[in-house]
Amino acid sequence: MKELIWLNGRTMPLSQARVSVEDRGFQFADGVYEVIRVYQGRAYTLREHMDRLERSCLGISLPPPIPKAKLAAHIDKLIAKSALDEGMVYVQITRGSCPRNHVFPKSRPTVLFYTRQLPPMDKPRKSKGLKLITVPDERWNRCWIKSIALLPNVLAKNAAIAAGADEAAFVRDGIVTECATSNLFIVARGSLLTHPVGPSVLPGVTRSLLLDLAAEAGVDAVERPISEGEILAADEVFITSTTRELAWVSHWNDKRLGRAKCGPVTLQLHHAYQKRVAETLPT
Ligand code: PDD
Repeated sequence: MKELIWLNGRTMPLSQARVSVEDRGFQFADGVYEVIRVYQGRAYTLREHMDRLERSCLGISLPPPIPKAKLAAHIDKLIAKSALDEGMVYVQITRGSCPRNHVFPKSRPTVLFYTRQLPPMDKPRKSKGLKLITVPDERWNRCWIKSIALLPNVLAKNAAIAAGADEAAFVRDGIVTECATSNLFIVARGSLLTHPVGPSVLPGVTRSLLLDLAAEAGVDAVERPISEGEILAADEVFITSTTRELAWVSHWNDKRLGRAKCGPVTLQLHHAYQKRVAETLPT
């Protein structure tokens, strides 16, 4: 597999790509991004990622520089050229490079995407569960935009790692919104619960897929704010993201959450997720 990048229309090895010091992504975090999973050489839920990227662009008043169908076609081509089998594509659009000025420039946006291999995910049944810590949610109120301004997420994630945990959950006014790099779900009295998307939660592509799969499986799903107390009392807790799929949570701020192994609803939904992935691949 070769790590290749498409940068403003040119394809090259990732190590050779260069962007100006005055790129607004570098100076202002003035840009948006996507992370897309590749299974067996196919970009998974590419259309959903392209739709969110377009919404994120519009959310920062950046007219999408490339029609999403065209961008998707370029991404597919780069995956094939890279001979990427299992991995991801990182896509980033910034407002471009120009002399530093807070005012929007007339510059051409910087559009790039590159391929990267990923190791296979641990199966939930085999995984020992994730440890989560809580951190105050001090992010802005436009978390539905997948902005490259990720410093609060970076700090939260590193607080988790420093505490010997795997992931940080954001808490605002006693409500758990989402995690540094993932959405959060609980199972309580047979229902699946997750915080609504919008000001404080990213509309995760995996989250949305999970809600569809739950509906298909007849699992009752409710989108509403979840308190920390409800998490501690939940039957199952898990997180979702493009790179992690579904991962079950065993500890919350050093407290063990109920069971010592992945719960049955999480296992059922992970199975449904894998089945859905398999159905989208060529036979
Ligand atoms: N992160 N919430 C946040 C804050 C995230 O950063 C992510 C994903 C998600 C899950 O979204 P999705 O299911 O579409 O991947 C929720 C990516 C993977 C990242 O920044 O690397």
